[in-house]
Amino acid sequence: MKLFLDTANLEEIREIKKWGVLGGLTSNPTLIAKEKPDDVETYMKELCAEVDGPVSLETTAVNADEIYEQGIRLSQIAPNAVVKVAMTPDGLEAGKRLVEQDIPVNVTLAFSPAQAILAAEIGATYVSPFLGRLDDAGADGMHVLWEICEIYEVQGYDTLVLAASLRHPMHVVEAAQAGADVATMPYEVFAKLVKHPLTDIGLEKFLADWNKLEKS
Ligand code: E4P
Repeated sequence: MKLFLDTANLEEIREIKKWGVLGGLTSNPTLIAKEKPDDVETYMKELCAEVDGPVSLETTAVNADEIYEQGIRLSQIAPNAVVKVAMTPDGLEAGKRLVEQDIPVNVTLAFSPAQAILAAEIGATYVSPFLGRLDDAGADGMHVLWEICEIYEVQGYDTLVLAASLRHPMHVVEAAQAGADVATMPYEVFAKLVKHPLTDIGLEKFLADWNKLEKS
């Protein structure tokens, strides 16, 4: 399972990149708006240049023709750009047309196995089920992810399952168990993945013992 960062913050990207585990990036309109870029396209170029892997850039148009046009422009931002379209009839229509142009598409805002089947049928590169938001709504996001992974396996779909809206390390661990191809998470979740109190205690003890030896 590849690990993607869900952010539009360059500092966060640079930090996780140093760990050698950054497989790609997902962004969305909320995350880009948070960074208040002077010029959105230039900023998206910077994001793509910073990441050695696919970078999802989201369309914000609502009708199929406009989503398609915007998708074409986003795909030209960088060779690693992936165009995100929302799981709507217009998003699917535009997504299918983009796929036909050999442009990688990420169908986002997916909340059910039925929607995931549609994303696979248009030949999307990724489908993004939002686990955390399902949990927030009183549903079981992880169960939905298991169902999608099972259907994709049984049907032999090529679309990759990108587990999104992950809120804590167990989401990441369970997404890996379910067979997700990618887990995208905010910087805070990455930071929690590396942490274990026994690692800190163990390291402290090793260093203390080593220092005693050096002083003796
Ligand atoms: C993924 O592509 C989305 O940007 C993201 O995972 C949404 O997460 P949120 O529900 O924490 O906003």
